[in-house]
Amino acid sequence: MSGEWFTASAPGKFVVLGEHSVVYGKPAVVLATDRRITCSVRRSRRNTLNGDYLDFSRQPHFNYLTRDMNHCLDFLTVSEIPSGSGMGSSAALSAALALAIRSERGEFPTELFLVEEAYGAELHAQGNGSPMDASACVHGGGIAINVDDGGKELWTISRNNRTWKVTDIDVPKLSFVIGNTGIKAPTGPQVDKVRRYMNRNGFAADIIDEMGDVTMEGYDALRKGDCERLGRLMTHDHKLLSILGVSCKELNTLVNASLPYSYGAKLTGSGGGGCMVALTDRPEKVAEIIESRGGTPYIIRSGSEGVRMEAGVAKGTPMEIPMTR
Ligand code: MEV
Repeated sequence: MSGEWFTASAPGKFVVLGEHSVVYGKPAVVLATDRRITCSVRRSRRNTLNGDYLDFSRQPHFNYLTRDMNHCLDFLTVSEIPSGSGMGSSAALSAALALAIRSERGEFPTELFLVEEAYGAELHAQGNGSPMDASACVHGGGIAINVDDGGKELWTISRNNRTWKVTDIDVPKLSFVIGNTGIKAPTGPQVDKVRRYMNRNGFAADIIDEMGDVTMEGYDALRKGDCERLGRLMTHDHKLLSILGVSCKELNTLVNASLPYSYGAKLTGSGGGGCMVALTDRPEKVAEIIESRGGTPYIIRSGSEGVRMEAGVAKGTPMEIPMTR
């Protein structure tokens, strides 16, 4: 006998500035996108995912989020976010699942509870990282991390001697285009790569510090709507990320091709493949150039609503569950 469906959705995200250095407690600026993941959950006699038997040992997000569950569930997952692309598929899946699962249990979770659930699921799946993606996908709109500017504080999360203070920011009216290389690159190995680089190179900490300074200045430019300065800083950040070893030929191709028509461009997310983002007032032209270089462009409407309940049942192409380490 199956129960009633409970459906929730959460937005993807893109990082304007601060990926990787945020893992070391530096600032970051992130915006939610208009692409979402939708999950439906209902009580069932056995555990299924999109109609097939659900093997929890192969699905760490589901495993973590149902850890104290004593009944079976059917899950449906539908996604508009390419997985393993740096657009927050893993965090959006975790946030939407967490809300649907808790609602099925008759609970009304707070945003902070959902962030902790989503961050816990991400750590369980990828082993390391910051609560940045989980915070962006739960809260939606725009968030900044560790910027200390007196903005509205949402929550502070600490782990392993690092602290991330998350602040709500006004979503800027700027136009961004994302370019997907189509190369899937899960987050965990990229974060590990930077950690190994830090362990091997004495000067790596200076690069992380510089990324923190670039992000703070970029945050100031974003608030003032200063596209020229923000774009310059994004491109500079891409160079620093490249030194850390998390860019790749395909990302550099899309960044370089976008630059003549943009204020600036950089990889977004964990890199190694996945996506880049350009700040531009010629979005159609940048989208065309990205496509001509073999990428898939998305003209982004930023600042979408965070995780929320939806009516009905998730419909569309079943999601490819994000790769894990
Ligand atoms: C991935 O979207 C962002 C990283 O900074 C990892 C993290 O913050 O957990 C690379």
